[in-house]
Amino acid sequence: MDLSRSAEWSALVSHYHDLQKVRMTELFDGDPDRFARFSISLKGMLVDYSKNRIIPRTMELLMELARNSGVEERRAQMFAGEPINFTERRAVLHTALRRPRGTSLMVDGMDASAEVADVLDQMNRFTDRVVSGEWTGYSGKRMTDIVNIGIGGSDLGPYMVTEALKPFAHGRLRVHFVSNVDGTHLAEVLKSVNPASTLFVIASKTFTTQETLANAMSAREWFLRSAVDTAHVARHFVAVSTNRAKVEEFGIDTENMFRFWDWVGGRYSLWSAIGLPIALYLGFDRFRELLAGAHAMDEHFLNAPLETNVPVVLAMLGIWYNNFFDARSHAIIPYDQYLHRFPAYLQQLDMESNGKRVDRIGQEIDYATGPVIWGEPGTNAQHAFFQLMHQGPGIVPADFILPLRSQNPMGEHHDMLVANCFAQTEALMRGKSEDEARAELEASGVEGMDLKLLLPHKVFPGNRPTNTILLEELDPFTLGSLIAMYEHKVFVQGIVWDINSFDQWGVELGKQLAKVILPELGSKNEIDSHDSSTNSLINRYREAKAEGATPPAEQLSMF
Ligand code: F6P
Repeated sequence: MDLSRSAEWSALVSHYHDLQKVRMTELFDGDPDRFARFSISLKGMLVDYSKNRIIPRTMELLMELARNSGVEERRAQMFAGEPINFTERRAVLHTALRRPRGTSLMVDGMDASAEVADVLDQMNRFTDRVVSGEWTGYSGKRMTDIVNIGIGGSDLGPYMVTEALKPFAHGRLRVHFVSNVDGTHLAEVLKSVNPASTLFVIASKTFTTQETLANAMSAREWFLRSAVDTAHVARHFVAVSTNRAKVEEFGIDTENMFRFWDWVGGRYSLWSAIGLPIALYLGFDRFRELLAGAHAMDEHFLNAPLETNVPVVLAMLGIWYNNFFDARSHAIIPYDQYLHRFPAYLQQLDMESNGKRVDRIGQEIDYATGPVIWGEPGTNAQHAFFQLMHQGPGIVPADFILPLRSQNPMGEHHDMLVANCFAQTEALMRGKSEDEARAELEASGVEGMDLKLLLPHKVFPGNRPTNTILLEELDPFTLGSLIAMYEHKVFVQGIVWDINSFDQWGVELGKQLAKVILPELGSKNEIDSHDSSTNSLINRYREAKAEGATPPAEQLSMF
């Protein structure tokens, strides 16, 4: 359907005009059941979406839009392994990675479930050997450190999960992540590990990613400075990839390769062998619990009616603000320090999936798609950017994520964290009127010109929407559910916006141009083939290099 000209869209436009002046505080006052009406409980999770600028009619209209956009049909196609990633002619089957065993699912003539089970078994055996110390390094030492080298989906998911689930680690292995091609990233990690007891996991779906291959090559060189014999590489370097030939070409023994498939998108891959560092760090049983949590969310997403389907509800609320209130960003505020990488992880998941501007038939679209996703943990965020959320001119819809139990009970800390979380969503909704602000100022003795001057600055417009997602506890199961919830939210939005959420052509141009510029940086001749800005920047760098501002690799202290 032509989205912005559809009857469902027009109905939402006029509904938006009707609701524009309505205040959430009045809606709460007028409906004692509002919380019950607009909240959903799932295993380990409660989603409260009552602090949104909605009435029951809003949800009806949003669900009509979802239904008529084909969300249910496309959802069935995704789970069945149809090639819904149509620009790459691929199925999208991250959900198959977390299905219980024993049910077959045929994709391109192969049983995806059986393949998944094989790789999980391989990961399980390997994890057990490394964790138990049976897998030793070249000098007979057990492994003490895992260094994952990967970027994007081959980094953000495993890194976020290992940080989030630190309290569940068995403690026999440390885990590190190197993603940036900036040598500093690798250098700093290598300073803290011993080559004789370090296992490198080279994670790349394509095994062609420049940054990952450069980091892997430098790590190998560093390793061989101590190990000397290249035969030792096999015990210290394993690969996770879909590209066997490239892994072989790089020099990693394919015996030590963990495979996955092109129907697993990079940003949806932490459930596959890309999750190996998670399994190594937490133990395989914990990894299975993570998968089980995601599967529980898959079942909910697949079976619950749209009206009570958490990913659908969150997706449609996102569309409500993005397309009708013109809110072009969405904040993620975890009130849990262990979730400090969660916003960064969601940035790739959401922005790489839905940052698109042409529809399924290649037409430029005339409505907003994926918003800017950003955030930081609370309470830190309160002392940084909440000013804008409370008193900036536009609205920033936000998800507040809070576990009920702390992993580190300490005096009143958790109560304080919780109080702040609840207070912020209440404040964003209620705001502070001019009358309230005046009364407060007068009570504190401010009057006359001072009062006049100060008053407008003390007003909070309020009526700012938030969702609160309460987790029983941040454990592997609930984290699995939480991540899958956002995956499906992104999917639903992509269907409504009529875009392909599963390709990422937008990352290619910069990569192509970097390949042109890289050799130019070492050129003896002045570069003049680009625009004057790019030429001048390249030439300035060439000069600096010639002056010795960048030390050659062999001078770096890490080596
Ligand atoms: O550049 C974007 C991207 O292709 C992501 O989609 C992907 O997660 C990342 O690069 C890493 O790719 P790979 O796993 O193939 O190295």
